Amino acid sequence: MLRTQPTTSLLIKSLIIFFSILIQYPAIAKEGMWIPATIKDHEKEMKSMGLQIPIEQLYNKSGTGLNNAIVLFGKGCTGEIISSKGLILTNHHCGYGSAQGLSTAESDYFANGFWAMNLQGELPCKGLTVTFIRRMENVTSQVLEGLADTLRDSFRDTVVALRIAALEKEFKTKTGLDASIKPYFDGNQYWVAITETYRDIRLVGFPPNGIGAFGGDVENWMWPRHTGDFSLFRVYAGADNKPADYAATNKPYTAEQFFNINVSGYKEGDFTMVYGFPGTTKEYISSFELSNVYNITDPISIEARTRRLDIWTKHMSWTRTIFLKYTSKRAGVANGWKKWQGEMLGLKANNVIGKKQAYEKTFQQWADTSKSVLYAAGILPQMRTAAEIATPLLTQEQYIKEAVLGIELVQQGAAFDNVIACFRLGLSQDGLRDTLTKLVTGMEGFYKNYDPPTDRDVFISMMVLYFNKCTSWIPDEFKDQYRAHDQDVNAWAADVYKTSMLTSIAQLKDFAANAKAGDSTKLQADPAWRLYNAIATMRKQKITPVLKDYTSRMRYLDRLYTNAQMQQFKNKTFYPDANLTLRLTYGQVKGLDPEGAAKYSFQTNLKDVVALNDTTVDIFKVPKKLKELYAAKDYGRWGVNGTVPVAFVASNHTSGGNSGSPVLNAKGELIGTNFDRAYEGTMSDYYFDPTRCRNISVDIRYTLFIIDKFGGAGWLVDEMNIVKAKPTTSTKAKK
Ligand code: ARG
Ligand code: ASP
Repeated sequence: MLRTQPTTSLLIKSLIIFFSILIQYPAIAKEGMWIPATIKDHEKEMKSMGLQIPIEQLYNKSGTGLNNAIVLFGKGCTGEIISSKGLILTNHHCGYGSAQGLSTAESDYFANGFWAMNLQGELPCKGLTVTFIRRMENVTSQVLEGLADTLRDSFRDTVVALRIAALEKEFKTKTGLDASIKPYFDGNQYWVAITETYRDIRLVGFPPNGIGAFGGDVENWMWPRHTGDFSLFRVYAGADNKPADYAATNKPYTAEQFFNINVSGYKEGDFTMVYGFPGTTKEYISSFELSNVYNITDPISIEARTRRLDIWTKHMSWTRTIFLKYTSKRAGVANGWKKWQGEMLGLKANNVIGKKQAYEKTFQQWADTSKSVLYAAGILPQMRTAAEIATPLLTQEQYIKEAVLGIELVQQGAAFDNVIACFRLGLSQDGLRDTLTKLVTGMEGFYKNYDPPTDRDVFISMMVLYFNKCTSWIPDEFKDQYRAHDQDVNAWAADVYKTSMLTSIAQLKDFAANAKAGDSTKLQADPAWRLYNAIATMRKQKITPVLKDYTSRMRYLDRLYTNAQMQQFKNKTFYPDANLTLRLTYGQVKGLDPEGAAKYSFQTNLKDVVALNDTTVDIFKVPKKLKELYAAKDYGRWGVNGTVPVAFVASNHTSGGNSGSPVLNAKGELIGTNFDRAYEGTMSDYYFDPTRCRNISVDIRYTLFIIDKFGGAGWLVDEMNIVKAKPTTSTKAKK
């Protein structure tokens, strides 16, 4: 590129900028989630870190790569094929929903676990699918041909969608398989994945929660960890080995590619890879957007959820009924709550916003003089303006989402919208009652897990929070109801929960069965619906349009910003943000030492699990049989030095969706199953710091020990290919 000759001081400045960029974006071998079809570009580095197999074994165009042994499991997890008969290994928390669907009071798989003792004993899981990625191809030139970078999204999106549809069709016809084209690098690249989705998936093995969810929320997002977070399924296929609807006559899928399992262990510094489906990361966003995460969305969500979780936890401790109603909801709410706290901690400890700002300064200097990317200079100023307009509304929106709509009763008001709409259809009385009854029946799932007194306490706490934080934005309806109860939030709550029809399915059913044409006024007088409606109206009028504008503006600017950065650093190998497509990441087995003082080890074992046993706390109750196996040191082939390794940490760059991913050694053999990240490093969705970011995996030997000795399902181990030899060399962890 032709540049004007810099003066000496300018030269020094440029050098400083150059090196500071190098410092911010060093060639960290471990950062990055790579598209398998581009992995050849990393061969040299991977080999230097320890990879011992030809890179083509991981992915190749002829379709014989290990990518064929990995599946997108359900809607957002990963699974790996571990036998020629289509046996799938994934996480316990990924199989949880399927196990719930199959559990009954008599066969409670959470309490007792489940182990099929032969193929006939495997249980079909309704609705569960797994998807193989057979091949990937860069189709950017076909999708974006002739479209200028700066073209507005309104027009660009239409053209892109049409081209994608046509191309997908073409790929489907050509391959006889499915094809899906997705944007990468914020829409600067497009790749097609040729896929096959199997629909007959059966549950094979599921440890009880005392193993599979051991440590529960307390250990969630934490290292050290003691969870045997795995479960087993099997892919079934038609006679032609192709996807088929469930049929008793279907056969286990014959897998050409599956993972060999290495049980010889690993040591710190050993090369590892994680191959799976990370969901969402945003590594290239501006400081403005990241500030919004750090200053608005994360803290408000944490603040509101802390209150909600406290109340739920208290009520759940009172009766087993409430516990059962709220345990699964609680796990979901707490998962985000804890992750965001770790994220804020990591963003702060690393001064990520400050780093981004410094980086943006150098970007702007480059952009101001860039002759190649003329639009670059305007990107950051436009982002700043857009963010400034949106910031106050983002705050309101987050309080509405997490506080107001965190009240289940108010959220349930949304369901009333459809009920009210029925009255406008001009139905006969019978027709009206019929339709209403159907609608109400659809709400049974919600009411099965709903406890009004618990929610009433949440109402009180959330309203106090909302009134304190959102002052001038509070809709009149809220203020009117509050005043009508003499500004006593307890009295207000008591009244709402006494009078609202939305507190119980019985009241709703009764209403539906006896409804008359004029009854919609009764609904419109319902205090809970009125609150919902007031918030929905305000959102629609004042918030959503601005935020929609902001999102589409940022989407456009993000695309340009990412593109410009890639032009600025032509020699840097960028990786695309996660988008739930297949990625390979590589790193090393590595202990965690965030404070630089108390070094945690990189592995936990069965002895640690047993030491945590606490029969008074559900999540720390070690199953009796496991304690017996431990006492007798009855570990079968899976013990090491008088114990069994349970979990380990490594420095692979992973994200939500990587749960269940195969963790591989230098030879591409399976040594574990990924299931989480360490608290200190959950900010890796925005910024990967190799000193703090760790992925957590179940050691394959623990998995095999549980299957074989605890589950007594050794027949499954027999169909696996177990390797004992260690890979020959390993490279020391690089700093
Ligand atoms: N933190 C894990 C991941 O985000 C989920 C682990 C499930 N366990 C739990 N206690 N919720 O999804
Ligand atoms: N636990 C996550 C998952 O379920 C993994 C992670 O966020 O690291 O995908």
